[in-house]
Amino acid sequence: PYPIYDVIRQHGPVYKGPDGRWLVTGYNEANTILRARHFGVKHVWSAEDLQQLKDSAFAITEALMFLHLDPPDHTRLRALVSKAFTPKRVAELQPAILQIVQQLLDDIQAKHRLSERSFDFIQEFAFPLPIIVIAELLGVPVEDRGQFRQWSRDIVRVENAVRFAPSVDQIPPESLAEANQVAHDMRSYFRHLASLRREQPQDDLISAMVKAEESAGTLSEDEFLSACIIMIVAGHETTMNLLGNGIFALLNTPEQLALLKEHPEITASAIEEFLRFNSPVQMTLRVAKSATTLGTADIHVGDELIILLGAANHDPERFPQPDQLNIQRDNIQPLSFGAGMHYCIGAPLARLEGQLAFPELLKQLPDLAFAAGVVPDELAWNENFALHGLKTLPL
Ligand code: HEM
Repeated sequence: PYPIYDVIRQHGPVYKGPDGRWLVTGYNEANTILRARHFGVKHVWSAEDLQQLKDSAFAITEALMFLHLDPPDHTRLRALVSKAFTPKRVAELQPAILQIVQQLLDDIQAKHRLSERSFDFIQEFAFPLPIIVIAELLGVPVEDRGQFRQWSRDIVRVENAVRFAPSVDQIPPESLAEANQVAHDMRSYFRHLASLRREQPQDDLISAMVKAEESAGTLSEDEFLSACIIMIVAGHETTMNLLGNGIFALLNTPEQLALLKEHPEITASAIEEFLRFNSPVQMTLRVAKSATTLGTADIHVGDELIILLGAANHDPERFPQPDQLNIQRDNIQPLSFGAGMHYCIGAPLARLEGQLAFPELLKQLPDLAFAAGVVPDELAWNENFALHGLKTLPL
């Protein structure tokens, strides 16, 4: 389903594109680069950019997210979150997630009984589920969830406008002002929540992070706040797209839909295949820190590499018949959560959400189908190339 990747692939798995950046489409090559220590992340802003953007709450927040940092800062900040975001904490969320899934499905069915013929899967299920789960995980009180949902929407919108502007000079001033406002509000919120939890710890991620921060003692307040906010930025739209892209792929492949309905026990494998087939994150960037060769590619210090995770997941050398959805595929292991030191810290949570959501959806809405008049190939996808998901999915 991604003809552009096939075109790039014809030039080899690691190809120097017209603008001088390397385009990586091979599975093995992408895997190797992500795991190698001599490739670093690409910083969101250069030192000059940051100087120009000084006092920007948004720039500070983004720059200090550990996804955008190399060791030793990355190691230090990731360790703090890993200490708090344990497998046990994820497993304990199971009953709460199931309850949220059921509540969302009840709401959809109630509307249907009121004779609404269709609903938007993205707005009514895929968007709210992960954000409510993240709120629950972090320990955001129920009465603040509306505000939390709004920030989550806002941060993605402003991110698109600000981070992906061609240069700092070209960021529309009103977008930067809005981005700073959202970042400022979120930072104030988490500062306040953390101080409450410092006084009276609860069984939530913020309390666990506060505890880890106190025992490590090596964290600035800005770093701590960025570590809280990255949970929303990295965990929301990605999981929403796993749900949306997964259902979309299934509805386009009726025999696979029938198979999963009949065999919910293969959901875990189906989720890996959804992640492979329509990767929620299509690409990430790296910069070479030392000269190296990869096959016939001579990579120089400072070269930028665009790792096309979505293309690697369709590499015909690694996946037979890559453009076919096959929820029983052997040994899938897609690169959708990345690999190496930046491997997604939320992968167990995203998988758990899928594991609970897909079977429940198919059980409770057994006649799920595209809404009348929908032409699947004509549905609109979000413009953001890295975060790949549908704008709407009327079912
Ligand atoms: C990192 C994908 C869900 C938090 C990453 C990376 C990918 C990814 C590809 C690595 C990026 C890189 O190497 O440049 C996904 C997908 C998800 C998902 C496809 C859902 C299906 C989540 C969730 C959370 C989360 C639910 C948290 C609640 C993070 C964080 C990082 C990360 C904090 C940075 C890790 C680091 O730099 O060490 N994710 N993610 N993600 N993800 Fe996820």
